[in-house]
Amino acid sequence: MKLPFVLAKRFVAGESFDQAAPKVEELNEKNIRVTLDLLGENVRDRGMADDSVANYIELIENISSAGLDSTISIKLTMLGLDIDEKYCRNNLFDLLETARDHNQFVRIDMEGSDYTEQTINLFREAFQEYEQHVGIVIQAYLHRTEQDIAELAELGADVRLCKGAYNEPKEIALQEMNDIRKAFKEYATVLLKETTYPRIATHDDELINWTKTFVREQNLSSSDFEFQMLYGLREQTIEEMTEQGYNTRVYVPFGTMWFPYFKRRLMERKENIWFILSTLFKK
Ligand code: FDA
Repeated sequence: MKLPFVLAKRFVAGESFDQAAPKVEELNEKNIRVTLDLLGENVRDRGMADDSVANYIELIENISSAGLDSTISIKLTMLGLDIDEKYCRNNLFDLLETARDHNQFVRIDMEGSDYTEQTINLFREAFQEYEQHVGIVIQAYLHRTEQDIAELAELGADVRLCKGAYNEPKEIALQEMNDIRKAFKEYATVLLKETTYPRIATHDDELINWTKTFVREQNLSSSDFEFQMLYGLREQTIEEMTEQGYNTRVYVPFGTMWFPYFKRRLMERKENIWFILSTLFKK
């Protein structure tokens, strides 16, 4: 059964680029940059993975011709990581060729822990060839992250740091919010001190305020990094941060395959369920 899009509309900007583009323009007018994410994951056959590459390429071209201030985010399982790693790598490199031609930037989202190792390895390979055009996401809750962060900082990678959105067992990931916040601060410290322009992706006031204080204490400029949030969440807060002079970016998902993304947003915060119910009655 296909659920009606109206359910997801507070978290997802539309089912097509044309529906999402006005939302991007609105954010850009407020000096907020965007990352567009064409939703989808875990593609199981080559035909669908080939379509994903073509759709991502079209997205890069559309962003250019619409003059939007937006990069893109992708998931490697959309490019065939479940089918064959080499095939996925070739798809990624094809996409990055187009990104380079359009002076675009592609961020590789981080998926569940079954994919972490392969994602980091493919990122490292892509970084050799497309340094300015590719970045990665690291999840603070994973036990392995201490080492990954050190290695990626050493490499000079462009990293988005988030808590992590997948349900992982305790052998693989921290489970308690306080432990995850502590780890997040530790990794943000490494990124802020050692990399050029880290991306701090959270809606959590404790982490936002900690970052602002840390940056001030270290005499870093408010434009040496950026805060990132998800579309539809804490809109007023991100607007205020932009007005205060922080660089900001909103991750704007769109597309017809919105259900897994929508479900993750509902699972991670019970208030989001009420948020959806309340907005159903708004236009
Ligand atoms: P969390 O949900 O942990 O909430 C902590 C506290 O923050 C709450 O108790 C509340 O005080 C405050 N808060 C949170 N949301 C609020 C709201 N809407 N209104 C008011 N207060 C709120 N994950 C992943 O695994 N791979 C990825 O590639 C990405 N990519 C990504 C990009 C971007 C730009 C963001 C912002 C996030 C991701 N994530 C992700 C998701 C991320 O891992 C995480 O699941 C969510 O950001 C939720 O964690 P938070 O720290 O934002 O708040």
